[in-house]
Amino acid sequence: MYTKEQILSALSNVEEPDLKKDLVTLNMIEDVEISGNEVRFSVILTTPACPLKAMIENACINAIHHFVDKNAVVKINMTSRVTTAAKDPSFPNIKNIVLVASGKGGVGKSTVAVNLAISLSKQGAKVGLIDADIYGPSIPMMFKLEGAKPAAEKNGDKVSLLPIEKYGIKLLSIGFFVDPNQAIPWRGPMVTTALKQLFNDANWGELDYLIVDTPPGTGDVHITLGQQFPITGAVIVTTPQNIAVADARKGMAMFRMDGIKIPVLGVIENMSYFSPAEMPDHQYFIFGKDGGKKLAEQFEVPFLGEIPLVQSVGESSDSGAPISLQENHPTAIAMVNIASKVAQQVALINAGLHKNNLI
Ligand SMILES: Nc1ncnc2c1ncn2[C@@H]1O[C@H](COP(=O)(O)OP(=O)(O)OP(=O)(O)O)[C@@H](O)[C@H]1O
Ligand SMILES: [Mg+2]
Repeated sequence: MYTKEQILSALSNVEEPDLKKDLVTLNMIEDVEISGNEVRFSVILTTPACPLKAMIENACINAIHHFVDKNAVVKINMTSRVTTAAKDPSFPNIKNIVLVASGKGGVGKSTVAVNLAISLSKQGAKVGLIDADIYGPSIPMMFKLEGAKPAAEKNGDKVSLLPIEKYGIKLLSIGFFVDPNQAIPWRGPMVTTALKQLFNDANWGELDYLIVDTPPGTGDVHITLGQQFPITGAVIVTTPQNIAVADARKGMAMFRMDGIKIPVLGVIENMSYFSPAEMPDHQYFIFGKDGGKKLAEQFEVPFLGEIPLVQSVGESSDSGAPISLQENHPTAIAMVNIASKVAQQVALINAGLHKNNLI
């Protein structure tokens, strides 16, 4: 019969590859149980979307076999508790707020925001989505929720909005409150008030990740978000085109400015190449090649992945059933990988280990 100490001592040889410390020091091992030659324990990962899950599980099994007994039967419950570094008392239940931004319009921010939210949720995280594009909210259409009105809940004197839930995501859009056919001339203070309502006056419940879709460019919304809310980080979306990359560069520079200082989690390249549905192996680099990768290299932030230009991606957004709802679609798989990388960067930020370039 082995002892708990033997098991923990063996597992202290397993390093979390990102956090660069061993699993025991990181308090990631719980519920150790031993009966006969069977060893059971839980490994608490920093996110259900951990890309290193299989690698860590194998390393644990190998460590027990190597340091304790090669015949031990090892049964591991791989589970997770999403980490947070948030200290803002206004948001006690929201662990991480992640912005989706770009410099240029139409590069796929909303597409990425929606599919990122669904991909994180598919992997078991509790996810919310705010459409902060006050100039052109598109989330209602992408969830087939045009004309929907969130309910309000009264708690003493306080009235809270109840986010609408669809596809496992809790969401609020400025589009639920304004007439989509009417352009509103937003002035600075109105932007702050509108954003505060979406963030502070809503009952979000417990969230691991709150994804925020932002308008194109670098304006009032981004500045307000950076100044008023505890943002964990931003992902930058660009197409490979020079003009899009140049605008994304301006967006990244803005996040590094004094008074905003939002860590950039990495770059996602959308519309990387065109693949016709009937010839999915063919790739046509119609907008150029590697613009997103080069941008990530230049700013020394991770490149989080590429998304091809595929007709069904656009169609699925337009019809209110985002592509990530399809299990085996290549773009849905690409989005799951991107979501894992975003979650990994968030965990690094929370551990104080992210090279977040807040120079
Ligand atoms: N990978 C893709 N393949 C095919 N179509 C796409 C892809 N990504 C986005 N689209 C389509 O391109 C258009 C613009 O995308 P989207 O609305 O996500 O961009 P955006 O950056 O949010 O735009 P805006 O700046 O106006 O908010 C949409 O019609 C969308 O369906
Ligand atoms: Mg958009």
